[in-house]
Amino acid sequence: MEHKKEYVQECFTEIADHYDEMNNLMTWGMLKGWQKLVMKKTALKTGDRALDVCCGTGEMAFQARKIVGAKGSVVGLDFTQNMLDVANEKLAKTAYQNITFVRGDAMDLPFGDNTFQAATNGFALRNVLDIPKTIQEMARVVAPGGRVVCIDVSRPKFFLFRWFFNIYYFKIVPIMGHLVDKNKKINSQIPAYTWLAESLKSLPSQDKIKEMFIEAGLVDVDYKGVGFGAATVYWGTKPKK
Ligand SMILES: C[S@@+](CC[C@H](N)C(=O)[O-])C[C@H]1O[C@@H](n2cnc3c(N)ncnc32)[C@H](O)[C@@H]1O
Repeated sequence: MEHKKEYVQECFTEIADHYDEMNNLMTWGMLKGWQKLVMKKTALKTGDRALDVCCGTGEMAFQARKIVGAKGSVVGLDFTQNMLDVANEKLAKTAYQNITFVRGDAMDLPFGDNTFQAATNGFALRNVLDIPKTIQEMARVVAPGGRVVCIDVSRPKFFLFRWFFNIYYFKIVPIMGHLVDKNKKINSQIPAYTWLAESLKSLPSQDKIKEMFIEAGLVDVDYKGVGFGAATVYWGTKPKK
């Protein structure tokens, strides 16, 4: 992938307006349940501060807000303005005063050390240029005792599910996606939904990602497959000194 940062930004700029509907369609409505597991693993409580890195259209930030309540606060960060615009349009329809969506880079978070009780990242590890750096940044801004939790697509381990997944994810999803991306090349490269599927091929294995969490200094690190293994939730805790 040439000029991956610009390419990824352009992809999400193109598909932002239909991103939420397509996600729900492609995950057969299972997405909300997976996000609930992410939230459970954050161990967030009322009054906490939460950060969602690569927040996109803000779905996970809204879930975090439900937990931290009016006394807490949530920040969603993303580098694609159109995704943030959709998030802000949804925010404007709520009475929430304590969610902020900011533009920024996951690999250089504009927050001080130990700022949040939890940092989440949904379906973006395969989009960032440097996964270890992204996890390190999330670990840096989380306070001791706080959690870092990520979810991304993965390939089921059981061969029958894997066989079905490979057909569905690499062949059918791009066709469904072309309803939205119109099969239009992005920066003279592949269309957006072809990228969303293809990018899984370069995502490191679950064990390698677990290793990255440990190398970022996190403890109690583990992962769990959801949706028959079509996605995996990873979590770790920043140690108390
Ligand atoms: C697949 S979407 C996921 C959106 C959201 N987290 C979700 O679960 O639906 C990936 C998002 O990551 C963002 N992104 C990719 N690389 C980024 C980076 N380096 N810094 C900030 N955002 C980034 C994209 O703009 C896009 O909104």
